[in-house]
Amino acid sequence: MNKIEDISVEETSAPVGAKVLGVNLKEALNYEVTQYLNTLLDRHAVLIFPEQFLEPNEFVRAGEIFGKIMPQQLKKYVLKDHPLVGYNSTKDLPIKDGRLQVRGENYHTDHSNFECPPRATALVAVEIPSSGGDTQFVDTRMAFDCLNEDLKVKATNFSSRHVHQSSKSPRELTKLSSKDLAVIPETTQPLVIKHPTSGRPALYLNTGRMEGIEGLPENEGYELIGTLYEHSIQPQFEYRHRWTKGEMVIWDNRSVMHQANADYDPLEYRYLYRIMIEGPKIERYVPMH
Ligand code: SIN
Repeated sequence: MNKIEDISVEETSAPVGAKVLGVNLKEALNYEVTQYLNTLLDRHAVLIFPEQFLEPNEFVRAGEIFGKIMPQQLKKYVLKDHPLVGYNSTKDLPIKDGRLQVRGENYHTDHSNFECPPRATALVAVEIPSSGGDTQFVDTRMAFDCLNEDLKVKATNFSSRHVHQSSKSPRELTKLSSKDLAVIPETTQPLVIKHPTSGRPALYLNTGRMEGIEGLPENEGYELIGTLYEHSIQPQFEYRHRWTKGEMVIWDNRSVMHQANADYDPLEYRYLYRIMIEGPKIERYVPMH
């Protein structure tokens, strides 16, 4: 049984990310440890659990520490015997001009077009390339804190419609049949959200899904999205995760954006299991005056 006194936490030098040592996610956790890990996720936004080597059923159990597992949207990338577990595999990816067309290659937050997007997403590194293939995270709380006052006020007042794929998406999202597309939700989300537990404000951006800004002319809306996005992805907000085999990494989709990298040999194998944890409805941040 995992004991709280055996757990140690090593913060990264970035604004987000902490390595959690002394926990075996294959073993049962008591209430105190479960609560502690949830507090750590709220605080550090990205948690790294090295050397766990979880099988799919163990990964589901580990995910349940953080809440109910959310069904995968892309049914073609789920494990046959474990439908709650998806996977990211190089074997499914097309190669164009010698480069893999990886999924998730620009900063985003998962399924922002859902009224209740996942609280968190987690990956387990099963196979990783010899170099490259890192996952990057940016702290969208700190990005909001560092906006100038005018932009803070402006962003706080607006919302955006999030759809399956924005007409201005910088990347092509997975193609869906018209039948699948018909059941994909669309929703309006505020540009600045309030974290459900900490109450901290954070920018909520997903350029692949945001269809302009409600109440602004098209050009002005996309310009505001572009300004906020470019601001948020600056290196001072970033944690870059270099994978090692067997690790589990979980992140809070309301506090960070993440992106994948296609900077590795397309003939090398990269394979990760992926799950998502259900989250509540997104809440608008209302500043106190
Ligand atoms: C993603 O979930 O967006 C992909 C992350 C990765 O494969 O590095």
